[in-house]
Amino acid sequence: MEKWGIIGALEEELSLLTAAMENVTTHTVGGRIYYEGTLEGHSVAVTKCGVGKVFSAMAAQVLIDRFAVTKLINIGVAGGVGVGLHVGDMVLSTDAVQHDFDVTALGYAVGHNMDVSDDPGKPTRYVADEELRERFKAAAQKTLPADCGLLEGTIASGDQFIDSAATKEELRERFGAVACEMEGAAMAQVAFCQQVPFLIVRTLSDLADVQAPISFREMVQMAADRATTALLCMFRDLPKDPA
Ligand code: ADE
Repeated sequence: MEKWGIIGALEEELSLLTAAMENVTTHTVGGRIYYEGTLEGHSVAVTKCGVGKVFSAMAAQVLIDRFAVTKLINIGVAGGVGVGLHVGDMVLSTDAVQHDFDVTALGYAVGHNMDVSDDPGKPTRYVADEELRERFKAAAQKTLPADCGLLEGTIASGDQFIDSAATKEELRERFGAVACEMEGAAMAQVAFCQQVPFLIVRTLSDLADVQAPISFREMVQMAADRATTALLCMFRDLPKDPA
């Protein structure tokens, strides 16, 4: 039987989901609350992990160990990095990199996670589950407003809120990133090590430029709700596990 682990960093990124859950029990692990229950009849465990790579890795491991999840989804908002994007566009991960992982002094490329991938000259790319992405895409196409972009691409994660055109360009050039955020690739690293399929879903709250802090504050709830609305639709459309 499938069990879905869902990770968001902020209250805004999960509020619609926790409100829609049924048969809920709550558990506190490592000072974080985990909501176990069902969404549209599917077994889920949801947590607001907190901001940053460490919290998201911790949540992923707890969801696997304590809640026995078989799939992981990281949901929420991001800064737009690709060219021509708009606030409100949605990005589904093809892969994820950790843009702030830097062992260049020892001859590795920026973003190369030692002990995980082989080529020291390349960043480590955690590849998202294609079937999951296709399922999510079908749901998002139904729920997103007509003028809203739906993109698939690389998500760059780091313990840094990006608000500079220069840094944003660097993420685009160095990693081919479409969006930046602070959790996805850490969850992805845990998912990779534990062989659990994963997907990162982010709606743009800002464009990672000088306006980003203002845009983030104004748009975070709208952007987060677009992602959670699509996730709820995916669960609604998903065939039920046999009883
Ligand atoms: N999440 C939303 N916007 C972001 C940004 N500009 N940088 C990092 N994480 C974000």
